[in-house]
Amino acid sequence: MNLEEAKRRAEELREIIEEHDYRYHVLDDPVVSDEQYDEWMRELIRLEERFPELRTPDSPTRRVGGEPLPHFRKVEHPVPMLSLGNVFNEQELREFDDRVRKAAGGRPVRYVCELKIDGLAVSLRYKDGLLDIGATRGDGTVGEDITQNLKTIRSVPLRLKEPVTLEVRGEAYMPKRAFERLNALRESKGEPLFANPRNAAAGSLRQLDPKLAAERTLDVFVHGLGHMEGHRPATHTKALDWLSSLGFKVNPERETVDGIDGVIDYVNRWREKRPELPYEIDGVVVKLDDLDLREEMGNTAKSPRWAVAFKFPAEEAVTVLRDIELSVGRTGVVTPTAILDPVRLAGTTVKRASLHNEDIIRGKGIMLGDHVIIRKAGDIIPEVVAVLTEKRTGDERPFSMPEKCPECHSRLVRLEGEVALRCINPECPAQAREGIIHFVSRGAMNIEGLGEKVVTQLFEKGLVRGVADLYDLKKEDLVSLERMGEKSASNLLAALEASKSLSLERLLFGLGIRFVGAKAAKVLARHYRHMDQLMEATEEELTSLEEIGPKIAASVAEYMARPEVKETIRRLKQAGVNMEYLGAGAETTTAGTKDSPLAGKTVVLTGTLSSMSRNEAAALLESLGANVTGSVSKKTDLLIAGEKAGSKLDKAKKLGITIWDEETFLKNLPEGVAT
Ligand code: IVH
Repeated sequence: MNLEEAKRRAEELREIIEEHDYRYHVLDDPVVSDEQYDEWMRELIRLEERFPELRTPDSPTRRVGGEPLPHFRKVEHPVPMLSLGNVFNEQELREFDDRVRKAAGGRPVRYVCELKIDGLAVSLRYKDGLLDIGATRGDGTVGEDITQNLKTIRSVPLRLKEPVTLEVRGEAYMPKRAFERLNALRESKGEPLFANPRNAAAGSLRQLDPKLAAERTLDVFVHGLGHMEGHRPATHTKALDWLSSLGFKVNPERETVDGIDGVIDYVNRWREKRPELPYEIDGVVVKLDDLDLREEMGNTAKSPRWAVAFKFPAEEAVTVLRDIELSVGRTGVVTPTAILDPVRLAGTTVKRASLHNEDIIRGKGIMLGDHVIIRKAGDIIPEVVAVLTEKRTGDERPFSMPEKCPECHSRLVRLEGEVALRCINPECPAQAREGIIHFVSRGAMNIEGLGEKVVTQLFEKGLVRGVADLYDLKKEDLVSLERMGEKSASNLLAALEASKSLSLERLLFGLGIRFVGAKAAKVLARHYRHMDQLMEATEEELTSLEEIGPKIAASVAEYMARPEVKETIRRLKQAGVNMEYLGAGAETTTAGTKDSPLAGKTVVLTGTLSSMSRNEAAALLESLGANVTGSVSKKTDLLIAGEKAGSKLDKAKKLGITIWDEETFLKNLPEGVAT
């Protein structure tokens, strides 16, 4: 095949693939098999590989393939992206209509009703029919350039059916099923779950690596025109139909209605049908159809006067509460959780709901076997809103909190002024287990690979009883665990090793001393500099510190006096865990922290540096405003690799993270900081 023939074939293939992308992802009406489609795609990829000069920016092979970005570029919106005023009931909707009719002065008023998709507002700019820039809303005036990620969404046309120059606005979202699959996958890997599809969509679109964004199934509905040159349609209805004919996916549930009664009917219908949709909505958007009239009405500073959002309340569902499970947390608090008959709610299947504490159970009059209304607030775990007492059959059983700890059977207490019941046995295994989960968590010692499931297994096998035991773990111990291969075991040991060089405040926070959060830990570390000094501090001395209240002071003094704590700290020290505050330079370095390229960056150190120790390097980095962590993850911005760097270097390369050698590191230090 010569270049000319290849060119013709590539063009033909692009057109075929585009058409089938459109049929599949926009019209939801595929006409060829996936195999056939893949074959065309492979043929095009081969052609573009053989004749690189044939590659075009709008080729369907370019949906994924860009390199990870160092950060998102800012883009100014040609027309500001406004938000919408909200109404919550029929009355407020009618008031909106009154304002519109007044402005119309007798002209007929038609509205377009659309579903309010619960996703992320995006702007798509096309130049001569080709996708040019895709951006987030940002603050409405300036957004972020996420073109690479938006290209991975198959329903975003790379080339329009007419060579027009325009900007469209739409909503990117994650369908409910994709969201459930993603969370199931994350759960199996021990990764934190997304609370709702909107957060998942936002997280995906903000991935700097487009390959990661491409792994998430996102979709887009286009709902309006932004900036545009040339002739505009006269109505929103016509604009949407035109956008649809250009190849955009426009929501099929839109309706143009006469007057506000039609709107109210639409709102009521969709309030009912909302759970059946394959994506989440949080209301209905009502827009004036006549674009001239829109212009006359204009905007307030934040939102247009010609449109309004009717917001639905948080989705609720009814199910049966079968049981109440009790769990003991790190601080000994016993928390009740409702075990429910599985029920669909806002895109997920719900089996558990939070009950918070005994007072809530009593206040709501909850009995075992009750029908209850559950609702999702912003969390993954929903809450029980109320009991449907009218559904009681007489078979329901009352519930009372136990008197003894469900794990260690020691007597539970209710501390003065608290609603929670607590187990105060310091040897309670549940508390120890939760304490370890806290110790290894990201904000504390950040030991990746030690999720809840692994910790539970280590506990059950008796391999770990307290945090100090973690540092005695051997490879043989780890590979004996379920779903733990050689590789993960090595990674885990490396993460444990790395955690030893973290600064004192991480350790202090990780120990889980009552009332000592990340902030108090930092204050203490900064003041005392070394664990030994903190251990000797008296309660009075602690109280005298600014930012340390009497509650924290008493708790720290009491904690440090315990013999078992002393023993734990001795063992941690022996294992090589750093006991010093490493951010000391932060206060003494005079070089501008702000202009340092390292400020705000998450940095990992690996290998041996010739000019300083790893601890010194970590201190230096922290003093420049960097956040030094022990292991490489997607969150890492920079890896500084000394001699004999190993697996971390490989991982960073794989994730496309910026890597500096020692020389580059030293060169990037502000003047006067280098040792
Ligand atoms: S029109 C000037 N239509 O809701 C008004 N917005 O609070 C432009 N949204 O930022 C918005 N579905 O992200 C419009 N069918 C729809 C929508 C919709 C969801 C979002 C959009 C906007 C927010 C308004």
